[in-house]
Amino acid sequence: MKNRPYYGDKLLLVTIDGPAGAGKTTVSKILAERLGYKYIDTGALYRGVAYEAQKAGVASDDDAGLEKLCSALDFKFARDEKGLRLFSNGADITGEIRTPGISMLASAVSARPVVRKCLFAIQKELGKEKGAVFEGRDMGTVVFPEAEVKFYLDASAKTRAERRFKELADKKGSPTVAEIERDIKLRDTNDSSRSLAPLKPAEDAVIIDSTGLDIEAVVNVMLSHIKKRVF
Ligand code: DC
Repeated sequence: MKNRPYYGDKLLLVTIDGPAGAGKTTVSKILAERLGYKYIDTGALYRGVAYEAQKAGVASDDDAGLEKLCSALDFKFARDEKGLRLFSNGADITGEIRTPGISMLASAVSARPVVRKCLFAIQKELGKEKGAVFEGRDMGTVVFPEAEVKFYLDASAKTRAERRFKELADKKGSPTVAEIERDIKLRDTNDSSRSLAPLKPAEDAVIIDSTGLDIEAVVNVMLSHIKKRVF
């Protein structure tokens, strides 16, 4: 692939962490494409666990049930013309994991150590092949502290809610901006107050506030940091 940046003789591992709605997914996809790297959305894994738990009737605080469920997980990412898709036991669950209910449930199960332990191993396996952009909450702090380039992408809760609203706007029964902002703040509190792998910037992360920036501007800031790291 053209322009794939190396650090020494290694392809880089790039991590992008930050709260819900900060633009991580859009930016990570574009960045990975520009770098010729693969893109992994780790939030989809937590959503996948939430989806499977709901389907199996396992409560988000039932550690024994979650542990059993996690030990039997069979997740695979695949790419097609519509983007990154998540398969669970061979079934495409990409659409099913993007509902407000699964968002809240994913936040709840992500606070359970049994779930984090199991997904840690899956993520480490995925990270063995470098030349990747990993998006999540604890990529730079816990899962890949060794990553060569780390970003923490943030934006005000209002801006994040407005962006989500625009994404959902065409869908039937979508929530209001105020409802989305309330959910986002609740998830921020859950994600940053949990004792295990809380949402926070890694000490060596580049913090980018995207409140007043469009996507292209954020990607350009990131690319310029990557160039500085490589050359
Ligand atoms: O990025 P997302 O909204 O799809 O993530 C869904 C939930 O999963 C989020 O509320 C927190 C959790 N999560 C996590 O704890 N660690 C990650 N690396 C990614 C997501």
